[in-house]
Amino acid sequence: MCGIVGYVGGQNAAPLLVEALGRLEHRGYDSAGVAVVGSQLRVTKRAGRVRDLAEVLPKRMPGRVGIGHTRWATHGPATDANAHPHTDESGAVAVVHNGIIDNAAALRARLVDQGVSLVSDTDTEVFAHLVALSDADTLEGKVVDALDAVEGTYGLAVVHAGFPDRVVVARNGSPLLVGVGDKEMFVASDLAALVRHTTTVAHLADGELATVTASGFTTFRRDLTRTQTTAREVDVDPSAYEHGPIDGRPRMYTEMLEQPASVERALRGRLDERFATAHLGGLEMDARELRAVRRVKILGCGSAYYVGQMGASLIEELARVPADAEAASEFRYRSPVIEPDTLYVAVSQSGETIDTLLAVEEIRRKGGRVIGLVNVVGSAIARACDGGIYLHAGPEIAVASTKALTTMFVGFALLALQLGRVRDLSVADGRRLVAGLQNLPAQIEQVLDGEERIAQAAKALAEAESLFFVGRVRGFPVAREGAQKFKEISYRHAEAYQMSELKHGPLALISPEVPTVAIVPDDELTDRNVAALHEIDARGGPLVVVTHAGVDLGDLRVERIDVPRSERELDPLLLTVPLQLLAYHAALALGHDVDKPRNLAKSVTVE
Ligand code: AGP
Repeated sequence: MCGIVGYVGGQNAAPLLVEALGRLEHRGYDSAGVAVVGSQLRVTKRAGRVRDLAEVLPKRMPGRVGIGHTRWATHGPATDANAHPHTDESGAVAVVHNGIIDNAAALRARLVDQGVSLVSDTDTEVFAHLVALSDADTLEGKVVDALDAVEGTYGLAVVHAGFPDRVVVARNGSPLLVGVGDKEMFVASDLAALVRHTTTVAHLADGELATVTASGFTTFRRDLTRTQTTAREVDVDPSAYEHGPIDGRPRMYTEMLEQPASVERALRGRLDERFATAHLGGLEMDARELRAVRRVKILGCGSAYYVGQMGASLIEELARVPADAEAASEFRYRSPVIEPDTLYVAVSQSGETIDTLLAVEEIRRKGGRVIGLVNVVGSAIARACDGGIYLHAGPEIAVASTKALTTMFVGFALLALQLGRVRDLSVADGRRLVAGLQNLPAQIEQVLDGEERIAQAAKALAEAESLFFVGRVRGFPVAREGAQKFKEISYRHAEAYQMSELKHGPLALISPEVPTVAIVPDDELTDRNVAALHEIDARGGPLVVVTHAGVDLGDLRVERIDVPRSERELDPLLLTVPLQLLAYHAALALGHDVDKPRNLAKSVTVE
C-alpha cells in the first residue's frame, strides 16, 4: 500500500522518479507526488494517477536528489493537499511514507499547540514537522529524533534542503529497498521500481535506517550504531515488471494467460516420480519432523485465505492431518493457542500483507514453527518464516490475483503430497497425484481456450446487481474465490455460500434477478449438488454451472462451463480458472479499470 521511490545521482531526478512511480501504481493510485532537492526543495503533487502528476510536472524542476510517492489513502481523502510528499512549514523538509503513524492524532495536537499549521489530514505530515523541529546537526539525527516520537509502521524517505546530497530512509513494518547503480543510488518500496535501473539491491530490516548518497549507502539503527546490511544481485527479468496493458489487454488478462507457464514453474524440480512424492527443500524439515506434525493451520488474507482453505482440504485428504485455514487478519486478535506440534503455514503473494506478517510474528514469538508459501522473493513474510517455498508465479501486477493464486494451490498440493507420503499415502495414490499435477498446465490451457463462451456468460451476469457463488466441500473455497474476484473488479454484490446451506436461509433471495454461479464437479457430491440446482431453477434463478463433461444436468436451464477432469483432490484449481475469466469479462463489460479497481491496492501493508 503506497509506493515510495528515491533517487540520488547524476541525472535529473524528477522525470526518473515519475517514471518509477508508474511502476508502483499497483500499490496505490489515488494521488502521487515528487520532491526534488536542487538549489532549493521543490514539490509537485496531485490527486489522481501518476499520469496526472506527469502532466503538471514543471518543465524545469532541477535537482539530482529526490523522492516520490503514489498514495492509497488511509488518513484523509485523495486530495492534492493529502498527497505525498509532505513538507514542514519552511519547505526545507519533504517526507514520503508508507504505513500508519498510530499516534498521529496526539502528535498533531501537540504540533498545533506548538503553533505549527497543519495543511493536510494525513498522519505523515507530522513527521515532516518533527524532522524540522529537531535540533540535531545531521539529517540522520533529525530523522531519529522524529522516529523517537512516532509509534506505528513505516517505510519512510526524507530529503532536506540543508543536506542536499542525500536521502535518509527508515523501515519499520513496511518494505524498503536500496538499489545500487553506477555513481547513482535508488530507493524504493518495491523491486518493480528499481529493476529498470539496477538489480543490485539491499533489503532494509525492521528498525533499520540508511543514508543514501550518490556514492553508496550506509545502514544504521535508531541509536546511530552501524549495521552491516549489504546489497546483493537479484535474479529477475526486468521486462516482467513492465506496467500497463500488454497488446492493449489489461495485466489481469495476461496474468491469467500466463498460468500454464507459472504453474509449470511452481512444479519444476519439485516432483519425484520415482518415489511418487514432492520435495520441498525450502521447508527445512526432514521426514521425522514432517511425521511429527499433528495439525496444520494455514493463514492468509483475502484470496490467499480462500486458497488456504483449498490447501487445508488437500492436506486433510492426502496426509490425513487435521488442517484448517483462518483469516490472518483475525488470528492474533483472538489470542490463539500456539501448539508445538502444529505446522503453521503463511500464504501470501506479496509477502508484505501486514496482517499475515503480524500473525507469523505472533506464532514465532510463542515458539511455533511457520513455513511460508510466498511469491515475492526476499519479502518480509518470506524472511520472517522458519522455512518455506517460493511460488515462482513471476511478478503479479494486477490487483486481482490470478496466477499467484493458482501457484499457491500448487504449493499446497506439493506440501500435501510430501506430508502424505511420509505418512499413509500409498505409492499408487502418490503416482496418481504426481501425474495429475503434471497435467495441470495443459489443462489450464484448455480452460483458457473456452474464453469466448465464458465471456458470453459473464456479460449476462454483469447485468445483475447481486449474485451467488455456491459450492460444497472442495467446491466451497472455489466459490468464495470466485465471488471475491467478481466483486473486486465488477463492483457487483457477489456472495459465496455452501450449496448445502442455501435452503437454510439464502434461498429466499433467489429470483430471476439474482443469478447463481454453481461449482458442480463430478465427485461424490454431484447428485446432491444437482438437487440444489433444481431448487434454484424452480425459483427462476438463472444458473451458470462450472462442471465436468459428463455431469448430467438433466433438463435444467443452465449456462454450462465444462472444465477438464483432474484428480478429484486437484479439481479446485481447474474450477477456479473460469471464475477468473467470468469476473474479468464482467468487469470489462461494465467498463471498469480491471487492473486498478476502486478502493483497492495490490499490497495491503496497513492493518
Ligand atoms: C486478491 O484478488 C486480492 N486482491 C486480495 O484478496 C489478496 O489476495 C490479499 O490482499 C492477500 O494478498 P497477499 O497474497 O499479497 O498476501
